[in-house]
Amino acid sequence: MTIPFVSFLPMEKELNNDIRSAFDRVFTRSWYIGGVEDTEFEKAFAAYCNTKYCVGCGNGLDALMLALKALGVGKGDEVIVPSNTYIATALAVTYVGATPVFVEPDIRTFNINPSLIEAKITDKTKAIMPVHLYGQACDMDPIMDIARKHNLFVVEDCAQAHGATYKGKRVGSFGDAAGFSFYPGKNLGALGDAGALVTNNKEIADKVRALGNYGSDYKYHHIYKGNNSRLDEIQAAFLSAKLPHMDRMNEERRRIAKLYSEGIKNPKVTVPYVPEGCVPVWHIYGIRCKEREALEKHLNDKGIGTNKHYPIPMHMQECYKDLNIPEGALPIAEKISATELSIPMYYGMTDEQVQYVIDAINEF
Ligand SMILES: Cc1ncc(COP(=O)(O)O)c(C=O)c1O
Repeated sequence: MTIPFVSFLPMEKELNNDIRSAFDRVFTRSWYIGGVEDTEFEKAFAAYCNTKYCVGCGNGLDALMLALKALGVGKGDEVIVPSNTYIATALAVTYVGATPVFVEPDIRTFNINPSLIEAKITDKTKAIMPVHLYGQACDMDPIMDIARKHNLFVVEDCAQAHGATYKGKRVGSFGDAAGFSFYPGKNLGALGDAGALVTNNKEIADKVRALGNYGSDYKYHHIYKGNNSRLDEIQAAFLSAKLPHMDRMNEERRRIAKLYSEGIKNPKVTVPYVPEGCVPVWHIYGIRCKEREALEKHLNDKGIGTNKHYPIPMHMQECYKDLNIPEGALPIAEKISATELSIPMYYGMTDEQVQYVIDAINEF
């Protein structure tokens, strides 16, 4: 049996007509940037996240970067980010001229450990960026308490967590602003690059909209030195076709994750931990194993696709050499990098496929 790490085919087969009619609608209208599709998707996605505003952007990295920019975070400032995340979180900080300060995760949840945040706060700290990694919400109550106590902004990185909840509340609705990615592989994926910012703050929403439109709030009037980062009509239409199916598709991911968590019994393997109050959306199902490379080879030899999130922690990346953080300084992130293995997880996996993966892991 061959099981890819990810496949969009089952979802695309189901939504084929909706996606094609979204394309036809936009093509017939012949209007591609800044139109009704964008406005309607933004309205629907804000409602989905339980926030007042949504601003479509070109991608998730831009949404995060523009959020920081709108909040006035810049040169000389520090922003707390988890040491275990996709590099885009830190790059958003770097792009506005600020410095990312890494805080270690809780190895059981892979997410930032709130009890380690305060030790990293200095008089330069302006914001905390919790990342709801792999589709599971961070422990938001203590994070929000720390932010309030130290007067810090909170920008949630929701790129992997569309629809995930913490104590019944959707991610993206906790902080000052949140960035989402609609990269094709995300739970809500466009057919190309796309992203969005959500917020309850009109000033932030207006500023991000202007910043992503060449700093313009009115045609040919430029109040900021902005970027070009907008959600185009065709991607907005595709996203609107998929959004109504999100919860059902996330539920199916939860069903697959439950089968994995109950079925994987190999003592060499640790399955992900879900704290009370969190309802994850399983963008990634990451197991941990000391013999990760051998397990990966064993699964690949059996036709099972795998991935690693992420094989090199950010502080050991070439591009962040300038931060002068030596190997060994962030041991939990380094341990996750050395032991995490992501196994197939996508809408439409059959029970037979899931069982095949479980059996292969158990026989390792
Ligand atoms: C945690 C995280 N943050 C930010 C991003 C950036 O999103 P995008 O690829 O849409 O720029 C991604 C996805 O790639 C991500 O996984």
